[in-house]
Amino acid sequence: MRFFLDTASLEEIKEAAAWSIVDGVTTNPTLIRKAILDQRDSENGLDIEGYIKKILAQVGRMSPVSLEVAALDADTMVNQGMMLYEKFNAVAGNVVIKIPVCTVNTRGEGNPFDGITAIQGLADEKIPVNATLIFTPEQALLAAKAGAEYVSPFAGRVDDRIRRQAGVAFGKADYFPAGGMALDPDADEILTDHGLVSGVDLIERIVEIFGQYEIECEVIAASLRNPIQVREVAAAGADIATMPFDVLKSMLIHPGTAEGVEAFTRDLESEYLALFDEQADSVQ
Ligand code: G3P
Repeated sequence: MRFFLDTASLEEIKEAAAWSIVDGVTTNPTLIRKAILDQRDSENGLDIEGYIKKILAQVGRMSPVSLEVAALDADTMVNQGMMLYEKFNAVAGNVVIKIPVCTVNTRGEGNPFDGITAIQGLADEKIPVNATLIFTPEQALLAAKAGAEYVSPFAGRVDDRIRRQAGVAFGKADYFPAGGMALDPDADEILTDHGLVSGVDLIERIVEIFGQYEIECEVIAASLRNPIQVREVAAAGADIATMPFDVLKSMLIHPGTAEGVEAFTRDLESEYLALFDEQADSVQ
């Protein structure tokens, strides 16, 4: 399984690169905005073009970096995708264009097929596409059929929607059970969003359907908020999990590990410790 970092922070990307466990990066306009605002205050601020180039070079060849288009209509999305690819892919050959699967807004305005048309247009040009803002297996199927190389189902936001519709208060990183939740513990009825009981359920179903039809489109489990969710999408068979830096870090932290580290450090015998002194002496 591959791990992507869901960030546009060069600092985070640099730090993670040193561990060699991150296989790519996903950005979106919200993340780019945050990174640009953060670095505007720094003394070594770069322009947006220079900043993106630094990200691409830092992440390196063979490790995809998704960059999202800004427009909502098919023709402009294709033009923007081609521009991004032409301008930036030369840096490290790792640019993937992110296209929303459907650009209809909350008021119902927009053409439902513009996302699909744009995916197809870019795929025809052999430009790799990551179809984003996927909330149902049906959207994933259509994006894959249109030629997307990756689909990004937003697991955490499915959980948010289920809790919001039920009026349940929650924090962004709160765990949501993969098997779903009932409003009343005595009731059998599990809450759903578009027939899905959780974000992990969304990933499981997409993986299952793609497997069923041998669809060669990779599933990037996105909008992950905590390590248990990463565990569950891994068990569900997601090809890739993209996550914020904090989630990656929290995959390592465990009180049992911390207690063990303390206990083993406390128990270090002086003779055993002397071995390391000898080693230090021989290095000098
Ligand atoms: O990759 C998708 C991600 O950036 C959205 O995450 O936590 O804002 O739903 P989130």
